[in-house]
Amino acid sequence: MNILAICGAANKSRNTASMLKSAFDGAMSVPGAAGEIVWLYELDYKGCTGCHSCKLLDESKFARCAVKDGLTPVLEKAIDADVLLIGSPMYFGDITGAARSFLERFLFPGITYNKDRTATYPKRPNVGWVFTMNAPGEFYKNFFDELCGTTGRIIGNSEYVMAYQTQQFEDYSKYAATMFDVDTVKKRHIEQFPKDLEAAFEMGKRLAGSQVQK
Ligand SMILES: Cc1cc2nc3c(=O)[nH]c(=O)nc-3n(C[C@H](O)[C@H](O)[C@H](O)COP(=O)(O)O)c2cc1C
Repeated sequence: MNILAICGAANKSRNTASMLKSAFDGAMSVPGAAGEIVWLYELDYKGCTGCHSCKLLDESKFARCAVKDGLTPVLEKAIDADVLLIGSPMYFGDITGAARSFLERFLFPGITYNKDRTATYPKRPNVGWVFTMNAPGEFYKNFFDELCGTTGRIIGNSEYVMAYQTQQFEDYSKYAATMFDVDTVKKRHIEQFPKDLEAAFEMGKRLAGSQVQK
């Protein structure tokens, strides 16, 4: 069983990466799991160029992204994944540009413009999203539900976990950031974040476990 975790955050040790690693560890704890974490910020790639090659009725082009760059091997691995874990911090009300560009390149070849909007990929991996953010938990619920709806239709059964009101800096006094209640953020980081990591682990384990049962 192939587990692919895709990190759309630049920093490898902060909130998003920690949550994603925990989801990955959960998935990898299921017997038979093998996989890797891909760090999108290490790759050189673009978003979808709208060339429409992936819609061509030509077997060698159909349902494959024609753009060849640093993302190409990741797209191939994603097509072959049984569990896909994707992590992103919220940036200006959306996932990061790096995560968004990956998603454009992966989703667009995954669906046709036919009337029934046929999904094209041979596998239906379980998808686990990991989101982190400053805002309170409910703030982006509609966005998360819609994104899971989109990946649910095109890729496979999708769910998410999140960590919110995350700690961004060790020492808030060094930054122009008076809008934060530092005591609340620090308390949350100590008391809630370990529980968020646990929820991420359980999601990864559940998504991988249900693939085994299929
Ligand atoms: C460029 C930028 C934009 C951000 N925009 C938002 C936002 O729109 N909503 C929000 O809740 N948090 C926002 N944040 C905060 C991050 O989502 C949050 O701190 C997140 O946990 C950071 O993840 P990291 O610790 O893995 O880097 C933003 C942070 C940055 C750097």
